[in-house]
Amino acid sequence: MNDTLKTILNRRSTRKYADTPITREEKNTILQAAMRAPTAGNMMLYSIIEVEDQVLKDKLAITCDNQPFIASAPYVVLFLADYQRWMDLFNWSGAPQACVEKGLQQRLPGEGDLMLACCDALIAAQTAVIAAESLGIGSCYIGDIMENCEQHREMFQLPQFTFPVCLLCFGRPYASRENPRLLKRFDRRFIVHQDRYQSVDPVDFPELMRDAAGQFPADRSGDSVKAYVQALYNRKFVSGFSKEMTRSVKKWMETWTGAEVK
Ligand SMILES: Cc1cc2nc3c(=O)[nH]c(=O)nc-3n(C[C@H](O)[C@H](O)[C@H](O)COP(=O)(O)O)c2cc1C
Repeated sequence: MNDTLKTILNRRSTRKYADTPITREEKNTILQAAMRAPTAGNMMLYSIIEVEDQVLKDKLAITCDNQPFIASAPYVVLFLADYQRWMDLFNWSGAPQACVEKGLQQRLPGEGDLMLACCDALIAAQTAVIAAESLGIGSCYIGDIMENCEQHREMFQLPQFTFPVCLLCFGRPYASRENPRLLKRFDRRFIVHQDRYQSVDPVDFPELMRDAAGQFPADRSGDSVKAYVQALYNRKFVSGFSKEMTRSVKKWMETWTGAEVK
């Protein structure tokens, strides 16, 4: 197996970090890799904010669903979907006005643009993850950055056509990674379909969950598969953070789609 595959196949999330700082050179390498990621139309519909201020990190540890390890991560980076830069560029170029003069309808970024920009931001983020891993630097995604729209917008002074897709915490793993304990995934037959979508037959649900049960973080159920799925539903789907995420993302989307073309 080549080194790239070894890096990918042995990656796991890192939430406990050694004190060793990440050097500027390492940070630059990680950022360089992120910016080489594929990007829709080569437009780079994302921005990256390095969070160096400890006050901001401490706040994030609270606003991102109370995850204290964020404050102790040596390197924290925010990935934004970003159409603002292009809108500013479009306006500067006079493109919308020229469009109207030709009798065509100008428009503002909408749902499709947001989704595309999210794809760009996430692909850049994951490329950063793999680059870091290849340098012996672990990482963990923080999806909860999508929560608390009002606070995060203010903390990072985010303009209208941006959206915080994910936060990444980087740091060298506190403990050795000789034999990483990898969380199992669903069996490939449930994930990879041939030619058309294939729903899982309910009789296969216990089989689907066979390896997965007990493999999610903070799993405390040791019961039947149904009890396990119910616990997960409560913890991940109807819990406070998921409701807050839905509220907050709705607000973000309104700032994109509720805007009027002037
Ligand atoms: C979009 C996304 C959001 C995530 N958010 C969090 C988070 O807020 N906190 C956390 O500790 N882990 C978070 N994770 C990490 C997952 O929990 C982790 O990838 C998963 O449990 C599988 O573990 P592994 O990465 O070690 O294989 C997130 C991962 C992704 C892809």
